[in-house]
Amino acid sequence: QIAQRITTESPLTDWPTEWFAVHDRIYRRDLLLMEQHAPGSALQTALAQGADQTLAVIQQSGLRGRGGAGFDTGKKWQLCRAAPGDAHYVVCNADEGEPGTFKDRLLLRDHTDAMVEGMTTCALVIGAKQGFVYLRGEYRYLLPHLHAVLDQRRNQGLLGQHILGYENFEFDIDIVVGAGAYICGEESALIESLEGKPGIPRIRPPFPVTHGYLGQPTIVNNVETFIAAAHIITHGSVWFYSIGTEQSRGTKILSISGDCEKPGIYEYPFGVCIRQVLDDCGAQNVQAVQIGGPAGKLLGAAEFNRAISFEDISTGGSFLVFDQQRNLLAIHRNFAHFFAHESCGFCTPCRVGTRLLKNNLDKIAEGRGTAHDIEELKQLSHLIQHQSHCGLGHTAAHHVLDGLQHFPHTFSAPLQPHFTAQFDLDQALES
Ligand code: NAI
Ligand code: SF4
Repeated sequence: QIAQRITTESPLTDWPTEWFAVHDRIYRRDLLLMEQHAPGSALQTALAQGADQTLAVIQQSGLRGRGGAGFDTGKKWQLCRAAPGDAHYVVCNADEGEPGTFKDRLLLRDHTDAMVEGMTTCALVIGAKQGFVYLRGEYRYLLPHLHAVLDQRRNQGLLGQHILGYENFEFDIDIVVGAGAYICGEESALIESLEGKPGIPRIRPPFPVTHGYLGQPTIVNNVETFIAAAHIITHGSVWFYSIGTEQSRGTKILSISGDCEKPGIYEYPFGVCIRQVLDDCGAQNVQAVQIGGPAGKLLGAAEFNRAISFEDISTGGSFLVFDQQRNLLAIHRNFAHFFAHESCGFCTPCRVGTRLLKNNLDKIAEGRGTAHDIEELKQLSHLIQHQSHCGLGHTAAHHVLDGLQHFPHTFSAPLQPHFTAQFDLDQALES
């Protein structure tokens, strides 16, 4: 299988891996999402109130998907529940692959019960009997722990047949381990991989809620989303709805890394200002932050008053800090190498475009670039963004466009002066 053959080895040897070192330290927990969850508590409430009311509670809570895109979770569950099919499925996307994101790893280890409980509650709502946890290949060391929790829950009557004594409620979960392909975090590629095929994204629509695993109605949600759902059922929708902003209810767990004193896991109510996050993690002389991984947004100091929320800056959880000493061109170069390596190769704009982008940035970084290359960077970025088949391609050049906008000097400083004089550099940067 193609997905199984892709490795995670970075072709760039000088990547400062210490930035993404394991920082499983929790510095801030604003809600109960990272509190211990009594096994069975949400499920007992859900079963007592029934599937209709459970769905209503999720809808009223305002919960939106924590993977980054923020689709309304209640609406997703409702669409799936209403979709006709021979069987319905629940899939937990634990293929956490966004560079700089490591919070799901901690949630999978320390809050497994809440995650499984969220999945089981979802199964009750949509009428599923089978669920899957699609686990990132690099997290396979968590397998014994995850299996132990699943076994324990089966013994406790919280998984399997006749859950909590209810005759008609049956649900169990398998764990499927990915092989390190970033693209398998994209939900339709994940489903292809689950079916034993290469992880190539499908054309959407139709969305998995109607045509997912084996063409059947399927819910795909992130680890954090299922955990939030379990806590919402336990504590009620009002509790959750009262936190956050108008369109972003509840909290967001961030994985913070880079040039700061306290890299680690932080939980904030949505709407938190970027400046506050930087203060809390002990970041000083900050040049830029990259929020949402290489596919997300690169922000300079002028934008540190913006907020983490779906209305403003959304993220799957990655928050990278770069201080004034960091060479941003090296960061862009690394991101470009990442996308060129992780492109699944299915469509030409992304397969070839990400490679050309990488070559172009290498050329500029090695002092062989001209203003013409800046122009080409921009054209390429737009082409990849608009012509690619899936989200990976659509977002692969975001960092370049952000960088050209906010930090043009990063790209122009190393250009060859002789050749650059033949082009109007200012015009190239502005066009
Ligand atoms: P999307 O907006 O296309 O879909 C989000 C979710 O809503 C999906 O589950 C989709 O099936 C569902 N959906 C959307 N429209 C629907 C409709 N009309 N009917 C039914 N369901 C619908 O976003 P996508 O492409 O799935 O995810 C992109 C996000 O993933 C980005 O925001 C990016 O930040 C994030 N991401 C997260 C990573 C991580 O490690 N957590 C890694 C890479 C990207
Ligand atoms: Fe594959 Fe990239 Fe095309 Fe997505 S955009 S299908 S990752 S080649």
